[in-house]
Amino acid sequence: MQKPKGTQDIFLKEAKKWRWLSNEFIDVLKKYNFNEIITPIFESKEVFVRGVGSETDVVQKEMFEFEDKSKRINVLRPELTAPVVRSFIENKMYANENLPLKFFYNGPAFRYERPQAGRYRQFNQFGIEVFGNDSLEQDIEIILLANKFIKTCKVDQLLSIEINYLISGDARKKYEIALLDEVNKIKEICADCEARKEKNILRVLDCKIDGYKYKQLPKMSKYINETDKLRFEQIVSQLKALNVNVKINEKLVRGLDYYTGIVFEVTNVKTSQAVIAGGRYNNLVENMGGPSIPAIGFAVGWERMLILIEENQTLKIEDNELDVFIIPISDKGRIITNKLMNEMRDESIIVDTNWNISKLKNGFKASEKVLTKNLIIIGDESICTNSYEIKSKVSDKIVKVKYDEIISYLKLEKGCK
Ligand code: HAM
Repeated sequence: MQKPKGTQDIFLKEAKKWRWLSNEFIDVLKKYNFNEIITPIFESKEVFVRGVGSETDVVQKEMFEFEDKSKRINVLRPELTAPVVRSFIENKMYANENLPLKFFYNGPAFRYERPQAGRYRQFNQFGIEVFGNDSLEQDIEIILLANKFIKTCKVDQLLSIEINYLISGDARKKYEIALLDEVNKIKEICADCEARKEKNILRVLDCKIDGYKYKQLPKMSKYINETDKLRFEQIVSQLKALNVNVKINEKLVRGLDYYTGIVFEVTNVKTSQAVIAGGRYNNLVENMGGPSIPAIGFAVGWERMLILIEENQTLKIEDNELDVFIIPISDKGRIITNKLMNEMRDESIIVDTNWNISKLKNGFKASEKVLTKNLIIIGDESICTNSYEIKSKVSDKIVKVKYDEIISYLKLEKGCK
């Protein structure tokens, strides 16, 4: 049997990297006063049709859909923003007096895409969403957080922070008409762009196939109103003053329909793949049935971040180190080993044995395969004489102690009181 296409088994060293990354992220978020939110892995299809947009690739082509026994159409979540917004509305969090509410999440998302390096059908997103504030300072703080995260992972040199401002309302309509006029003049465009002309003309701007043909298209910045223009300029200049090297990319439009205003992607400079992506989505809560509440957020693609960390060799994964490894060499020794290990673990001593050990010889062999500071051999003689030898693997020193002294000796060695 094989794992499904586009999925991964994560174990041993790889699993340690995941744990490390998640701890780093949570450590950073603690400093920003975020709270965790956990939503279901599947949702009703409606959440994404209304949330992400019925015409997006994600909804049209990439969702894993299934019907339950009561004929409800569910999908494995392709992203986590729409579910978090669904939860925000369903649990009437908007009535909270302490807005803005700041959430983080971490979990799998599913998209039926063609798998390749950094692109999976099940992938993990670590993300944040902030509800209830529309200030430009909030926009800046969120981009600073994304920047802090890539610096913590020591991969900032391999990434570029691209930023754009998605215009809305009448300005957007005028721009779309102008864009469509120009795109219509171009001969032979790809099938996806042909469809985008009908559904969401802005998406032609980040076409990976025909991008070169679109160099002369009208620029969104020409259609932006004065208020938005000023806001965008302030965001960029304040970020630059804070040493965040953002690059304006007028073609950055995002593949999900809910964005309004500032959008950004942190992309791998070598592959151009986005590792972090997000932006402001002030209409989504209302569009999904809640009151008008502004919001902003982003998500980090776990696998893509780990590829970078790997490339940069930022992270050194070490083997587990034991305080002590026990070699039981008799039946009584095995009974005492379980008792002793139980007591040791209550005292936070890291201990293990290998129950395949039957005699001293294979016991030593097993001990060579683990990283341990100390060894104890437990057989009938040590039990009868109440004298246990603790051998330090660091200094080769051997001490003899009574059963009741073993734990205090090891704790003293560990530097605990
Ligand atoms: P997104 O750009 O669709 O945005 O995905 C965010 C990140 O998830 C991407 O930058 C990428 O690192 C990762 N990702 C997406 N698809 C895949 C895949 N097939 N394989 C591996 N990694 C992938 C969102 O999902 C928005 N919900 C982000 C957001 C949060 N906006 C506001 N708040």
